[in-house]
Amino acid sequence: MKKLCLLGLLVSLASQTALADTSAAAAHLKEKKAFVDHLLGQMTQDEKIGQLRLISIGPEMPREKIREEIAAGRIGGTFNSRTAPENRPMQDAAMRSRLKIPMFFAYDTIHGNRTIFPIGLGMASSWDMKAIATVGRTSAVEAAADSLDMTFAPMVDIARDPRWGRTSEGFGEDTYLTSKIGKVMVESFQGKSPAEHDSIMAIVKHFALYGAVEGGRDYNTVDMSLPKMYNDYLPPYRAAIDAGAGGVMVALNSINGVPATSNTWLMNDLLRKEWGFNGVTISDHGAIQELIRHGVARDGREAAKLAIKAGIDMSMNDTLYGEELPGLLKSGEVSQAELDQAVREVLGAKYDMGLFKDPYVRIGKPENDVPDYYADARLHRDAARDVARRGLVLLENRQQTLPLKKSGTIALVGPLADAPIDMMGSWAADGKPVHSVTVREGLRRAVGDKAKLVYAKGSNITGNQAMFDYLNFLNFDAPEIVNDPRPAAVLIDEAVKAARQSDVVVAVVGESRGMSHESSSRTTLEIPEVQRDLIKALKATGKPLVLVLMNGRPLSIGWEREQADAVLETWFSGTEGGNAIADVLFGDYNPSGKLPITFPRSVGQIPMYYNHMRIGRPFTPGKPGNYTSQYFEEANGPLYPFGYGLSYTEFSVSPLTLSSKTLKQGASLEASVTVKNTGKRDGETVVQLYVQDVAASMSRPVKELKNFQKIMLKAGEERVLTFRIGEDDLKFYNSQLKFAAEPGEFNVQVGLDSESVQQQSFELL
Ligand code: BGC
Repeated sequence: MKKLCLLGLLVSLASQTALADTSAAAAHLKEKKAFVDHLLGQMTQDEKIGQLRLISIGPEMPREKIREEIAAGRIGGTFNSRTAPENRPMQDAAMRSRLKIPMFFAYDTIHGNRTIFPIGLGMASSWDMKAIATVGRTSAVEAAADSLDMTFAPMVDIARDPRWGRTSEGFGEDTYLTSKIGKVMVESFQGKSPAEHDSIMAIVKHFALYGAVEGGRDYNTVDMSLPKMYNDYLPPYRAAIDAGAGGVMVALNSINGVPATSNTWLMNDLLRKEWGFNGVTISDHGAIQELIRHGVARDGREAAKLAIKAGIDMSMNDTLYGEELPGLLKSGEVSQAELDQAVREVLGAKYDMGLFKDPYVRIGKPENDVPDYYADARLHRDAARDVARRGLVLLENRQQTLPLKKSGTIALVGPLADAPIDMMGSWAADGKPVHSVTVREGLRRAVGDKAKLVYAKGSNITGNQAMFDYLNFLNFDAPEIVNDPRPAAVLIDEAVKAARQSDVVVAVVGESRGMSHESSSRTTLEIPEVQRDLIKALKATGKPLVLVLMNGRPLSIGWEREQADAVLETWFSGTEGGNAIADVLFGDYNPSGKLPITFPRSVGQIPMYYNHMRIGRPFTPGKPGNYTSQYFEEANGPLYPFGYGLSYTEFSVSPLTLSSKTLKQGASLEASVTVKNTGKRDGETVVQLYVQDVAASMSRPVKELKNFQKIMLKAGEERVLTFRIGEDDLKFYNSQLKFAAEPGEFNVQVGLDSESVQQQSFELL
């Protein structure tokens, strides 16, 4: 099958180009540009427009109709169709089209494909690039084995307003950490090359600044200064592109008044010219049509015109390119060159994915189709468990409540203790809830018959009917959350009874996954009231209380942490989450996760992020005073700072030493600390390095993460850690957007979170 198709393609191309033989055609294939230009020369206008259409497979488009369209050369690729038996007939249809241009098949493989790994925030909490590479590689292997060529990931939108539901998908608030993770994700998705049979092409998203939507309300507008964009928000996209991401998905928001989808500055001046990007750009779902509602296009015709002129190559699930481009080309409002440029990028991406060489490179042969795509045996459970436990963050542990003993009686309560769908988090690709190990199941397996586990739900996710309806509206396949119809008081009573007969209570509380989802913005960061009532009742029993949090954004849990003896942040930890959580609760794994995002005390403090700009009247902890920048009704500063997370052991950090008090331009110096495991257990921690520019041509952040090392130390072991600081680490975009390090004093801080640090200074000459 493979050979025949390749031969067919070569023969057809060779005959049209008068190339004498297949070897000449094969040599021709090597030159992407020549190949693409040549193919473009053979295409009719309709075929070109067809390549720009990316269609979602769903009930609205019957498969037979799609195949006809493909065979007529009117579709370039699909998304949401995700197994070989589904995709092969479409590729067969493409092979029946006049030029046999292959289709590609895309999907949102974001944190796993069938095996679901922790959500973005969970991955980022590991600060472990090897673990993150495991996520990318495993996702690619699974997706490619299922016939997928492309993923709409990584999502590298910096999120500093946790009201935004999509905070869950990204890697937190920090530019440096997010850039590093974005790079690793791209490299691991794409492997040696996106043309490999077990690689998928990475489409970094959402370009740009989507995480900065005003008020954290999804799809809202973004207004931002250029230095802030260049210093804080753009670098992660750039890092993903420099790592070779094959494409860019353009954001749904506007930027300083111009929607990203019609933003020539964004896609042409910045992305193409300044950054030299030469991959494909894809609109977000229906975004071209939305230009009308943004108020920049009068009608569909104008919307299509604006999008293609600004640089959107492929239109995702939007009919306007197909409907309007013929007329726009005829009238000359869109030029042939503009159309050709977009088509060139699409063909180039297909070339890079190896599809011209073999359109079936990932679809494979029918005889190799697997009998059950959803078989458990196809999952990578060990990898998922390992990554999941690395991303769990221990927030509190009073009187060494944790780890728990595998003996006596443990009460397990809470609406998320046995919630398979929520384990997966949002954008869980082809993950199936039936494969999820819930906390209940994880604990059951861990204790075996050594301890008694008593379970009671204790409360529903929410007692608010409107919220319940909203959350269930989100899922078309199955109910997202199922309410226990009994009155709240009855549920609580049952949980209290379970608690009373137990030695310790583990309460799994927080958000259902739909609460931290696209379009699920919140006005509070609180755990819903029915769950807080449950916590209150549990506290009143006097039993040691462990809170296991599941959520996709920082929550303001000031009250909850006072009730609890221990708090473990688990985000949405994926298919193996329950086992990973049990590993940590019972001390079979020593937690090492650190927060990639600040936890505010209350929603009113937002935006709250560690690397905010310096100001003239800063609030100084311990020295309250009038006329300083503060809120007067509650304690200032975060509840938990960026980079924070406990372990079952203790670490000490020695005073910081610098190899020099001065740094010449182009040279580097070394910052060293001795880190010691002063506790009784082996453990890992993340040693973080921050830099502050003391006086620059413009105000600079109070500190910025510039490096970190995750290290394992045996009990009692100490190690000298050295960080190299070079001029590049000190550079920033000034108000003229000049990227340079400015001579003068810099503070260097090293510590185990962004607040408790050792400091030294040096001078850049
Ligand atoms: C989301 C994208 C996603 C796309 C395709 C959109 O609603 O904003 O992140 O890739 O759908 O599923």
